[in-house]
Amino acid sequence: MAEIAPLLRASDGGAGQDPLLCVAGVSKSFREGDEHQACLDNCSFDIARGELSIIIGPSGCGKTTLINLIAGYELPDSGSITLDGAPVSAPSFDRLVVFQETTLFPWMTVYANVVFGCKVKGVPQQEMQEKAKHILSKVGLYEFRDKYPSQLSGGMQRRTELARALINDPKLMILDEPFRGLDAMTKELMQEFYLTLFEETGLTTLFVTHELEEAIFMADNLVLLTHKPARVKEILKIDLPRPRHFSMMASKKYFDLHGYAMGLLVEEAKRAFEDGNAIAFDAVSSLE
Ligand SMILES: Nc1ncnc2c1ncn2[C@@H]1O[C@H](COP(=O)(O)OP(=O)(O)O)[C@@H](O)[C@H]1O
Ligand SMILES: [Mg+2]
Repeated sequence: MAEIAPLLRASDGGAGQDPLLCVAGVSKSFREGDEHQACLDNCSFDIARGELSIIIGPSGCGKTTLINLIAGYELPDSGSITLDGAPVSAPSFDRLVVFQETTLFPWMTVYANVVFGCKVKGVPQQEMQEKAKHILSKVGLYEFRDKYPSQLSGGMQRRTELARALINDPKLMILDEPFRGLDAMTKELMQEFYLTLFEETGLTTLFVTHELEEAIFMADNLVLLTHKPARVKEILKIDLPRPRHFSMMASKKYFDLHGYAMGLLVEEAKRAFEDGNAIAFDAVSSLE
């Protein structure tokens, strides 16, 4: 194996000084009948400002649970999560999540969906209209502002969801498998679209996926999780140049990073399979 450098261990935090988000020693378990099932086990990592960090791990390992904690929808059993030094204890417009399932209101137009958060916050009408125009133009949906979600393609729905989050100027944009379920071509276009947006704005992003190709293509840092209960197995620096382009997926560096990370993921997916989670194994055997 050629050199993969620098490799950052979980204990380093990975983000250097003054990270935006710190996840420190976070554990979470759920009650199943009379038992407590451990889901996250002492997870620690940092998210650097202006970087795109990706969490990857086998299906069912605890990625969405971790996102729910970072978003403030649930609280950890132990450990702490801080954003800009302040403890995360509830949902906030600072940390907005786009999930794989569409959460658009079907009875509202694209425009009404996008300005929903501004209305909740009481943003003045004119400022809200200007922001909406800017964001909708950025995601290429200004012409479609009066359509309803059911009148949009899958890719357009995801862009509406992105616009609905972006209009609130989050400090941390969180995306939990946002392109899952899209056809292959639309998914590639959406990856390219988000990368361009990220490379233009430098918006700190935490992205979750179980697909290694997507992860290496997009990330600055890869946080690899173990099989459930999830621990941070390794944090990997993806030092491919930006702007990223699909041609980089044919480079030696990409190939080396992919091979290295794949070895770690296969170990975990095999453990998941032994525990009876066939989905995790399917994901890996399709990569092998
Ligand atoms: N609210 C909950 N109650 C009980 N078990 C849960 C709850 N949320 C998640 N789990 C369990 O935690 C594990 C991890 O789930 P999840 O975080 O959704 O995984 P991933 O997103 O990595 O696929 C699964 O076994 C799931 O069944
Ligand atoms: Mg999930």
